[in-house]
Amino acid sequence: MAQDWIEIRATGPGESKDLASSLLIASGSPGVQEETVDSVAGKLVSHSLWEEETQEEEDTSPVRVLKAYLPAGDEAALGTVKTNLSRIGWALETSFLKDTDWSEKWKKGLKPIKVKYRGFSVTVKPTWHKLKRSPGEILIDIDPGMAFGTGGHATTKMCLKSILRLVKSALLPKGPSILDVGTGTGVLAIAAVKLGFKKAAGTDIDKVALKVARKNASLNKTKLSLSAKDLSGVPGKYDLVAANILAGELTRLSRSLNDRIKPGGFLILSGILDSEQTAIEAAFSAIGLQKAFSFKEKEWVALVFGKPAR
Ligand SMILES: C[S@@+](CC[C@H](N)C(=O)[O-])C[C@H]1O[C@@H](n2cnc3c(N)ncnc32)[C@H](O)[C@@H]1O
Repeated sequence: MAQDWIEIRATGPGESKDLASSLLIASGSPGVQEETVDSVAGKLVSHSLWEEETQEEEDTSPVRVLKAYLPAGDEAALGTVKTNLSRIGWALETSFLKDTDWSEKWKKGLKPIKVKYRGFSVTVKPTWHKLKRSPGEILIDIDPGMAFGTGGHATTKMCLKSILRLVKSALLPKGPSILDVGTGTGVLAIAAVKLGFKKAAGTDIDKVALKVARKNASLNKTKLSLSAKDLSGVPGKYDLVAANILAGELTRLSRSLNDRIKPGGFLILSGILDSEQTAIEAAFSAIGLQKAFSFKEKEWVALVFGKPAR
């Protein structure tokens, strides 16, 4: 069935761009695209938050414009996001979009992303983008639909980089297993399988995301075991658990996340603003995990913990 959309155009101060972006995503937008205001020419330059970091030009303009999309009719989500954004000094304009217009606008903003770690790389591309695979390159096709995880958001990129680092530094056993909590499009679990993981499971509280992840698993010829179960109901233990969800939820789930890691295994946490890093480190150290390494990009931090072997 065709789905019509509300396009949100949010304008506010550059320093709270990442927070505004998180609020828009938390309200149910499948992602956020950015337009920068060229302060010299006064014109809007459209680019996506999903472009590779190295392709982005330094933008010093104080005002930012973010575009997000909510299903038409979701007045409650729109009201909440309006209130939350106004608290941090952001204003909204909205317009109605027919399903077909939305698809075209959305697709135009998505570009292939390459995530590198010491000469190794994973490229995530939208299905409709043609790209020739170079020898040894890991290529992942993603059709994001209504789910988060096109590969280019800083929080996803740092998860991919962490998985690359754990694999390439031989910190995991051969043919390891992964549990991806909040799988979205399935991008992390699919990348893991392509990097040699023998077992990959994903959970999401959003049934639409699970449907998208299932489609992407099939597009990439990878086997994922997907479930809408609450984390405490997920059986087994994994060499690697990854969770790219917001900091409050990570803290709430800390014990359940820890329970799913094998002794000697690892936990990747993302979706953390740098202002939240200290509290998250304290919460996960308090349950016996040891910080292994971290990555930082813009205002976001990803933390990787090791669980002591017995
Ligand atoms: C930021 S997206 C991450 C998607 C993908 N893993 C990535 O790294 O790009 C967070 C996802 O977590 C899901 N989510 C939020 N809270 C959750 C929870 N408690 N358990 C499982 N999934 C959750 C959301 O529905 C959303 O699809």
